[in-house]
Amino acid sequence: MTTAVSIPRTGGGGRRTAVAASARQVTKAYGTGETRVVALDSVDVDIARGRFTAIMGPSGSGKSTLMHCLAGLDTVTSGQIWLDETEITGLKDKKLTQLRRDRIGFIFQAFNLLPTLNAIENITLPMDIAGRKPDRAWLECVVATVGLAGRLKHRPNQLSGGQQQRVAVARALAARPEIIFGDEPTGNLDSRAGAEVLGFLRRSVDELGQTIVIVTHDPVAASYADRALYLADGSIVDEMVDPTAEMVLDRMKAFDARGRVS
Ligand SMILES: Nc1ncnc2c1ncn2[C@@H]1O[C@H](COP(=O)(O)OP(=O)(O)O)[C@@H](O)[C@H]1O
Ligand SMILES: [Mg+2]
Repeated sequence: MTTAVSIPRTGGGGRRTAVAASARQVTKAYGTGETRVVALDSVDVDIARGRFTAIMGPSGSGKSTLMHCLAGLDTVTSGQIWLDETEITGLKDKKLTQLRRDRIGFIFQAFNLLPTLNAIENITLPMDIAGRKPDRAWLECVVATVGLAGRLKHRPNQLSGGQQQRVAVARALAARPEIIFGDEPTGNLDSRAGAEVLGFLRRSVDELGQTIVIVTHDPVAASYADRALYLADGSIVDEMVDPTAEMVLDRMKAFDARGRVS
C-alpha cells in the first residue's frame, strides 16, 4: 500500500509550481459527540499541474468532501489547503469567493446551464458577470476542443445531455482557471455521452495544458486520468499512475474483499 507521492515544487522566480493544489494533514469532521463523522482523516495530497487526476473510492469514503475542500467550497476542521502558493484555508469569505471565481473552474453532475441562453452565451456567462473580456482565440480553441463549433447558437434543450455537459466543460475552460474540479461529471450521462465528455476533458489536459480533478466511482472514467487516488474511510489508501479500467476494477475488488474480511 502506498500513500500519495509528493511532486517536487519547481524553483522560485514567480514561475508556477508543478503542484497546482495540495492538502496537508486535512481533517474534516461533521457533527459533534455521538453523531460526529470524520469524512477526511489527515489527508496529504498533491495535485500535479497539467494532469488529469481521478479521485475514486466507495460511496461515503470522502471523495466529494476532499474535492470540496480542495476547491474552497467547504471549510476544513484542521490542516491546510493550498492553491499553487496561496493557502486558501484561512482566507476570509470575500477573498475565497474571489479566488474561486478567478482561479477555479467547476463541472457539476447536473449541467447547471441557463435554459434561456444559447451555448456560447452559457460558456461566456461567468466572464460576462465578472466583467472580463473573453480571449477570442482561446475561446475558439476551447470550442473546437470540446467539439461544439456547430452548436453555439443552440439552447440547452436543443442539445443532448453529452453536448450540454460539453458546454459546461467549455464554460469551465473558457476562463482559463488554474484547476478544474468535477464531482461525478459523467454521472448523469449514458456511457457513450460520458466517453465523449471524458475524451474532451482528456484533450483539454493534453492540448490546452489544463489541470483537472474529477471525483468518480466509475473505473472507465478513471482510466482517462493520469493518476487515480483511492479513498477509503476518509484516507488515501492507494494510487495508480496511468490507470486502465481493468486495473482500477481489480483494485476495487481487492479492497472490497479486504473490507469484508477485516
Ligand atoms: N453535510 C454533511 N453532514 C454530515 N455528514 C456528512 C456531510 N457531508 C458528508 N457527510 C459524511 O461524510 C462522509 C463522506 O461523505 P462524502 O464526501 O460525500 O463521500 P463520497 O463523495 O465519497 O460518497 C460520509 O460518511 C457522509 O455521510
Ligand atoms: Mg460524493
